Amino acid sequence: MNSSKRNILITGGAGFIGSHVIRLFVNKYPDYQIFNLDALTYAGNLENIKDIEDASNYHFLKADITDADKIKTLFQKYKFDSVIHLAAESHVDRSISNPKIFVETNVTGTLNLMEAALEIWKENLEDKLFYHISTDEVYGTLGETGLFTETTSYAPNSPYSASKAASDHFVRAYGETYNLPYVISNCSNNYGPNQFPEKLIPLFINNIIENKSLPVYGDGKYTRDWLYVLDHARAIDLVFHKGKNKSTYNIGGFNEWQNIDLIRLLCSIMDKKLNRNEGASEALITFIKDRPGHDKRYAIDASKINKELGWDPSVTFEEGLLKTVEWYLKNPKWIAAVISGSYKEYYKKQYL
Ligand code: NAD
Ligand code: TYD
Repeated sequence: MNSSKRNILITGGAGFIGSHVIRLFVNKYPDYQIFNLDALTYAGNLENIKDIEDASNYHFLKADITDADKIKTLFQKYKFDSVIHLAAESHVDRSISNPKIFVETNVTGTLNLMEAALEIWKENLEDKLFYHISTDEVYGTLGETGLFTETTSYAPNSPYSASKAASDHFVRAYGETYNLPYVISNCSNNYGPNQFPEKLIPLFINNIIENKSLPVYGDGKYTRDWLYVLDHARAIDLVFHKGKNKSTYNIGGFNEWQNIDLIRLLCSIMDKKLNRNEGASEALITFIKDRPGHDKRYAIDASKINKELGWDPSVTFEEGLLKTVEWYLKNPKWIAAVISGSYKEYYKKQYL
């Protein structure tokens, strides 16, 4: 992507990762017009980007990517020349209890965006780009050793990862069949400010604040590779501008933690921050029934993006976790606002 003026559609910009990407692009590239398209589902919260909503290069479009006609109309009207596609249903547990919406949003929604893009780009594909943001969960699970590389076979185990794998395949197929210019990146678990408190780290921070139990699935010996969300946003910036057409990039933190070790570290940080006795938060740990199809271990080999684009994670886990805890402690109103009644009902029913 070389030209200095662009009309960029970013989908899912009111969500966790999308909000950080939107902020980075709006502030760093005043010549770009940034369009944030989001349906504002339970996970979308415009508070996340309140600080940039008045910027002259920022525009919000409330729309659902499953609505093909509306998406086409918006492409015709605003003539986007590139897309950074983050909008998705993103939580594994929700995909287990309600898989269908994952197909509708993650697969059909992605198709709708590509169809609308091709309709207006077909005459001239030069300087156009469809950038699909995906996950390392498409690769399934690792054993004790080894890392996911860009050539690892896809073997998704949850309805969430199956829907993301399907959308990755469709993007690649549109590249081969219709010559859609695309890049895909597959990233490991993100954490940081503005993450909805259904994912492990923000859920447990909130439960510790509220003195509620910490529901650890199975024996807690599951491994994830954690990356601070701003490092992911920096990687997305690089892949968008310098990634090779029709290629994929793995993004990860080289930062593997077994859940139980991460939870113990989080508990000790929270005890200190809340001036509670050492061990007070750990006492809240409750081992519960395992998640069905629970992937044992994820770990990313991020050497391709490092060598080709010069990206490295810049925030250590200790720094990132501390910043994250401090952000949630400073923003009780944000937490209260996103935890709606219906969310609580859902959560209670499923796991507590
Ligand atoms: P999120 O759940 O916090 O946000 C998703 C956003 O998409 C929300 O703003 C929501 O309103 C919007 N959205 C959902 N359905 C929509 C629809 N039908 N039409 C329009 N907008 C809709 O998700 P996130 O954690 O920020 O993840 C963003 C992307 O990054 C997803 O594609 C996800 O698969 C991918 N990803 C996430 C992680 C992670 O650790 N969170 C890691 C790797 C990749
Ligand atoms: P999660 O944040 O849901 O991300 P993902 O499933 O996409 O990796 O979960 C991270 C890990 O934490 C995963 O191994 C499941 C586990 N986990 C729990 O043990 N308890 C919980 O309440 C949650 C939400 C997750």
